[in-house]
Amino acid sequence: MARIITDCPWLNPCLSVKSVVKGASKIVLITGVTRGLGRALAEWYIANGHTVIGCGRSAEVLNLRFTHPAPHDFTALDVAEENRVALWAAKVGAPDILINNAALMNTPAPLWKIPAREFNQLIDVNIKGVANVIRHFVPAMVARGSGVIVNLSSGWGRSTSPEVAPYCASKYAMEGLTKSLAQELPAGMAAVPLNPGVIDTDMLRLCWPDGAANHPKAEAWAKIAAPFILQLGPKDNGKSISVPGGDE
Ligand SMILES: NC(=O)c1ccc[n+]([C@@H]2O[C@H](COP(=O)([O-])OP(=O)(O)OC[C@H]3O[C@@H](n4cnc5c(N)ncnc54)[C@H](OP(=O)(O)O)[C@@H]3O)[C@@H](O)[C@H]2O)c1
Repeated sequence: MARIITDCPWLNPCLSVKSVVKGASKIVLITGVTRGLGRALAEWYIANGHTVIGCGRSAEVLNLRFTHPAPHDFTALDVAEENRVALWAAKVGAPDILINNAALMNTPAPLWKIPAREFNQLIDVNIKGVANVIRHFVPAMVARGSGVIVNLSSGWGRSTSPEVAPYCASKYAMEGLTKSLAQELPAGMAAVPLNPGVIDTDMLRLCWPDGAANHPKAEAWAKIAAPFILQLGPKDNGKSISVPGGDE
């Protein structure tokens, strides 16, 4: 198990991870690895000797397959399609760390102006997609009796703003779903809703086009977040956790 010591990470990224003591290589499953936070996490874990199993919908998955061959594995898959998730889980088996990262942001607008189709698609991915992944991967983790499930929440899973109601609803759902799941897991496992902070990705640019560039890039964030996730365990089960420094 890796151990991380942080020191004011966003103020001085060079000082942010003073020491990472590496343990055994982990199998890390990440949904939504083609860009953004999921991609940055995947690249960090691979560069640091872990095995990454990932998915995404776009053709960038093919690029990942060529760049990072076996034991890493990347599958073109929409987490909202349960049958595909089931086949994927049957192929992969039990990861050590399961990161439910894939999600959508709504086009900012008052709730009454958001079309049903857009609302439904967001819920299908952000809530039902996470449940699909849990339904098909967690039984093997429970049978083994170990593993950590990290469900990406948000500041908007713990507070609200106008024009992001569907997204807020989905991230508040992540908090409740994950805390309830935590009460169901056997000792030795953990489920954690994780607020990553505010990071300059495609998603942030969609909801905050003018301000996104002032926030850290995903690669800098991953240097803090990826080792931080590695040290999560049963001591954290059911706690609402934030990546250190990520709210600044
Ligand atoms: N960025 C922030 O400041 C911030 C703040 C709070 C929380 N978060 C959370 O952090 C996570 C990552 O956000 P991000 O900013 O990296 O978002 P992003 O830049 O939009 O990236 C989202 C990733 O998810 C994939 N994805 C989307 N829908 C999918 C689906 N149905 N099936 C499989 N993959 C799918 C996308 O790839 P494809 O298009 O190829 O499918 C992409 O790789 C999300 O859960 C988000 O809510 C982000």
